[in-house]
Amino acid sequence: MRILVTGGTGQLGRPVVESLRAAGEEVRVLSRKAGPDTVPGDLRTGRGIDSAVAGVDVVVHCATDFFGRETQLARTLVEAARWAGGPHIVYVSIVGVDRVPLGYYRAKHAAEEFFAASGLPYTIQRATQFHGLVRGLLAGATRLPVVPVPRISFQPVDVRDVARRLTALALADPAGRVADFGGPEILTATELAQAVGEASGRFRRIVPLKVPGETFRAYADGGHLAPGHREGVLTFREYLTGRDRM
Ligand SMILES: NC(=O)c1ccc[n+]([C@@H]2O[C@H](COP(=O)([O-])OP(=O)(O)OC[C@H]3O[C@@H](n4cnc5c(N)ncnc54)[C@H](OP(=O)(O)O)[C@@H]3O)[C@@H](O)[C@H]2O)c1
Repeated sequence: MRILVTGGTGQLGRPVVESLRAAGEEVRVLSRKAGPDTVPGDLRTGRGIDSAVAGVDVVVHCATDFFGRETQLARTLVEAARWAGGPHIVYVSIVGVDRVPLGYYRAKHAAEEFFAASGLPYTIQRATQFHGLVRGLLAGATRLPVVPVPRISFQPVDVRDVARRLTALALADPAGRVADFGGPEILTATELAQAVGEASGRFRRIVPLKVPGETFRAYADGGHLAPGHREGVLTFREYLTGRDRM
């Protein structure tokens, strides 16, 4: 199959490209920047998108906009896909986009609804937080003498596990919104910060804090978790120490 990966230069997109190529598929990587292994295009302005999408059977849409323009990216992609004869669009979303009242999540949920109403063949895969994001959030665990962490839990998942799942979806028939995909463990932010500290060899005092506000209440209630879906294989500690079982 001929497959376009938007966001193929990103944290998730890179292993998606690797996984699809390992499966023998012909992959195009979209990027706003020119490069030897990329096709140029910008989903915000539409520049280059028609030719990037032309002739592909599937688009794995990993590109994202953290500044509220997620639907704009989706709209550009859908218009080009209609013009190109309607390839299958596989969209990556986040567990809890309809439960956690965060602007970025609202935009992702609106984009999900936009793809579902587009009339194009589509699959939506929601995943829990990536290991890299959780490590980034807790990076203070290696720098500060005392590390304040919110009293919430995470279910971090490895991007290579998500990439394998997206590969299977891209090679299958369009399936609408499929079951959530989550990491193997649910751990408190305190446990995760301890793991970050241990992996770096620097031990800090970790202080769990209750954070006010409806967004943190939604996180504290587990709106971003998928306890019934622990399909990811790699644990957070394995990710931190590079001891993976892939
Ligand atoms: N991070 C998490 O914990 C998490 C969890 C679940 C789901 N997700 C979802 O997974 C997807 C990938 O996330 P990520 O963390 O891998 O993102 P990322 O590393 O920040 O990569 C973002 C990608 O989007 C591309 N991009 C941004 N604006 C673009 C535009 N206007 N036109 C074309 N491409 C554009 C960038 O490509 P260039 O810079 O090369 O143009 C880049 O490859 C997102 O949809 C995200 O919501 C993330």
